Amino acid sequence: MRAKIIAANWKMNKGYHVGLTFAQALVRALEPPTHHSAQIILLPPFIHLSTLSQTLAIQQHIHLGAQNCHQDAYGAFTGEIAAPMLRSVGAQYVLVGHSERRQLFNEDNRLLAKKVTAALPHALKPIFCCGESAETRAEGGQEAFVKQQLVESLFHLTAQQIAQVIIAYEPIWAIGTGKTATPTEVQAMHQAIRSMVTQQYGEAIGQDLPILYGGSCNAQNAHVLFSCPDVDGGLIGKASLEVASFVPIVNALNEVAA
Ligand code: 13P
Repeated sequence: MRAKIIAANWKMNKGYHVGLTFAQALVRALEPPTHHSAQIILLPPFIHLSTLSQTLAIQQHIHLGAQNCHQDAYGAFTGEIAAPMLRSVGAQYVLVGHSERRQLFNEDNRLLAKKVTAALPHALKPIFCCGESAETRAEGGQEAFVKQQLVESLFHLTAQQIAQVIIAYEPIWAIGTGKTATPTEVQAMHQAIRSMVTQQYGEAIGQDLPILYGGSCNAQNAHVLFSCPDVDGGLIGKASLEVASFVPIVNALNEVAA
């Protein structure tokens, strides 16, 4: 069975103490009363990684990741952070290609291919984000657009490497807007992504690939979205910032996966 995953993208929120207190409260709230099948990945700002890796050390089902990394392993890149550094403070995952990085920091498919390649040798699993704008969808070009993102940033990987990758489909128009994609739209894109990967790498890799949905996912819509056959969990922004709004999303995935 494919991994079921909820990833929490804190974006640029929560100072050191607030983040620590929040993570401790979250651990208490998610204490597994029974078997939890959903893996949880917290993606805080860099400043939290070292402390949270200690806080979460004994939690089998809660992991840590970063929101970005540089494509080089070290060097004179003021203000940047490299994959081996992230690994050294306990990160096991890294977001690559979030639409905010693409739009606000001019990250393109070629650069993102380098970041994916840079993360893998350090046992950092990329959570690769893809997704179209409202204009592209209005023209019906969403699948071609996402395909190009996958081809240019992921399809240089070997089969062994792509097996380490998680894909997150986040339509840009749904991020932070309260406008969630419908289950039909989400399923159609997730199925298309799975079939693109299957065509490139074969049935076994395509079937095992976790594909998460992101974009205004919340406690109200999580259950119906996670019930889609090709949706393996969520990448959550705003609703991951409070225990009360995040835990029901995790519960929704556990219910669907049970
Ligand atoms: P929201 O859940 O706030 O729409 O953000 C989604 C997102 O960008 C997660 O990476």
